[in-house]
Amino acid sequence: MKGIILAGGAGSRLYPLTLVASKQLQPVYDKPMVYYPLTTLIEGGVREICLISTPQDLPRFRQLLGDGSRFGLTIDYREQAKPEGIAQAFLIAESFIGQDAVTLILGDNIFYGGDVFTRAFGEFKGGATIFGYHVHDPERYGVVEFDAAGKAVSIEEKPKLPKSNYAVPGLYIYDNEVVAITKNLKPSARGELEITAVNVEYLRRGALRVQRLPRGFAWLDAGTSSSLHEASAYVQTIEKRAGIKIGCPEEAAFHSRIVSLAQLEAIVGEMPNCEYRSYLETEVVAEAKRLLK
Ligand code: G1P
Repeated sequence: MKGIILAGGAGSRLYPLTLVASKQLQPVYDKPMVYYPLTTLIEGGVREICLISTPQDLPRFRQLLGDGSRFGLTIDYREQAKPEGIAQAFLIAESFIGQDAVTLILGDNIFYGGDVFTRAFGEFKGGATIFGYHVHDPERYGVVEFDAAGKAVSIEEKPKLPKSNYAVPGLYIYDNEVVAITKNLKPSARGELEITAVNVEYLRRGALRVQRLPRGFAWLDAGTSSSLHEASAYVQTIEKRAGIKIGCPEEAAFHSRIVSLAQLEAIVGEMPNCEYRSYLETEVVAEAKRLLK
């Protein structure tokens, strides 16, 4: 399974913050926003990642994440010159995807709780798997409608009159057909290749699986000033209460066994003295050594 992180867009809703750094580089409590979707992919077992962003912002992402080896990954970088839709990612990353299945995650989506995605990646056999999450404001999102048997019957992008409260979060799993499907799409009224149009095509083919995310699972998007603040507050609350970190890719890479204890110690040793470093030292490295004894 290949992974794409889409971190493009003008970030106009976060202006003026986004004059100097893109939305997905803004802090969500104690780390850059992109660390959260990156961690979700690492936890799910994805090892080859393509990060797509604007020509202006790509150098900053490279500076932050490098070639990915620090997290046991390979990271390719590709440009989205103009924001022409989420599905455009499959055209930009066509050579990266090759013959594989692919997961696309949006750089401003934060997920927390349980191993739903890890299991979905493991169970994925073909077609498309997307998710449904109960929200109070479905009109802001792609909306999926279910029949009495729990089967998805329609998906609409930002409908004025939503047919359900189930929004489609920004994590999508597709087989290799997604590239051909995207090539046949026409831009929508807002001039974009819509991810919802891709999902509608899989639904039409009878190849779409929509899994409802359980209560207790958190999905936050951080694309507006107020949702950014709420996401930070949420992360701070959980981290303080539990003494763990959400969205820590070094930790996830170590727990996924793609970075060894010795490698992690070396990586941590290069960090400046800060709270992030001391967390990794005491809660991850020292704890792993204690368990080894
Ligand atoms: C996009 C998708 C929408 C999806 C949402 C998730 O919306 O078009 O279907 O529900 O991401 O964050 P946008 O980022 O354009 O608001």
